[in-house]
Amino acid sequence: MATINDLSEGEIGQNRLVYSPTWIEAQKQVIQWALKLGLTVTVDDFGTAYMDVPGTDHPDQVIATGSHIDTVAQGGRFDGLYGVLGGMQAIENLLVTEGHPKETLRLISFSEEEGSRFPDTFTGSKHYTGAKINLAMTDPDGIHFDDARQTAVAQLNLPGVKHDLPDLPDTFTELHIEQGPRLIDHQLQIGLVTAIVGQRRFTITVKGIANHAGTTPMDERADALEMAVTLISQLRDQAHQLDSGLTFTVGEMHISPNTSNVIPGLVTFTIDTRSNDEQILDNFEQIIHQVVAQHQEPKITSTVNRWAKSDVTHLDDQLLAANQKTADKLGFSSTQLASGAGHDSQIMAKVTRTTMIFVPSIDGISHAPEENTGQVDLLHGVELLTESLHQQAY
Ligand code: GLV
Ligand code: MN
Ligand code: MN
Ligand code: MN
Repeated sequence: MATINDLSEGEIGQNRLVYSPTWIEAQKQVIQWALKLGLTVTVDDFGTAYMDVPGTDHPDQVIATGSHIDTVAQGGRFDGLYGVLGGMQAIENLLVTEGHPKETLRLISFSEEEGSRFPDTFTGSKHYTGAKINLAMTDPDGIHFDDARQTAVAQLNLPGVKHDLPDLPDTFTELHIEQGPRLIDHQLQIGLVTAIVGQRRFTITVKGIANHAGTTPMDERADALEMAVTLISQLRDQAHQLDSGLTFTVGEMHISPNTSNVIPGLVTFTIDTRSNDEQILDNFEQIIHQVVAQHQEPKITSTVNRWAKSDVTHLDDQLLAANQKTADKLGFSSTQLASGAGHDSQIMAKVTRTTMIFVPSIDGISHAPEENTGQVDLLHGVELLTESLHQQAY
């Protein structure tokens, strides 16, 4: 799958932004492998693929697993994709060794989770669970979500593939790399996820006045970038001072006109904040508004737009306890931990019993080209998932 990648000149890692030509190729590949395995494939309006082995006794009871196939820009090979291909491997293992399940087994390849192209996150699982998505939103090139979506989904209309939105499953298990250093630092093989952090993402727009770099005196400028730097450094200092475990990241910035001899007239930048505590997120949101309000000037104005909000999510205790027992039985060293990354599981948990299995990330690196997990660790995760699905569906 890592060869299905569209890097531009000078880029490294994996680019599979939702509804791009590479994304279409990748989702087609997943579907083709599923068809070859004999799974029944359904694709919904957002391009999420649902790949079923119908249950022999209780076909309406659905035990689901899966993750997402999109990546961040210049991301790694495992975030998301491991849960899709690992899930497919687990289902293949079960078909070979145990035959058909009593309950339906479903592999889900979600269309989008990362929020890397359009200003929304988890749009695949949100659509599945009935949340409304703003179809008019645009990517940085001005392409509408709905246009990109329709063009891409039309290409998934392969022979043998149904078009529908299936019923929700009875359980959902997501296999994923940890994306952080805790398992690798403690030499543990498996992480069982108790909860997922809440997130808020914002875009700050700073409007100044573009002007000549050489003729505009220093005290007569309305430099939007200078203001952006001030805002970022004050907010970062506040985030540090809180000392609450809140994470604060400015990961994206656009400078206009972005040329060496013009004072920047317009700057936009994003803020990503996360915490296990809603109160801390709410307080920091207030701080963002306060700091921005304190820095309004006659010729430089700034606005705040919050475009993503997800609450702290607690996953299912019983499924976690069952997976803990199974991990112990299989002889895997493990720990229970909260996830600092967002996952489709936090959306699925709103509608069904949901659990997550983590495997170690080498050097704790993720959302980067160096993202990696040892092959043996990858196999351990699949083994635990296989056993978990076996207990639930056979
Ligand atoms: C998605 O991977 C996120 O946690 O940002
Ligand atoms: Mn992921
Ligand atoms: Mn990710
Ligand atoms: Mn993620």
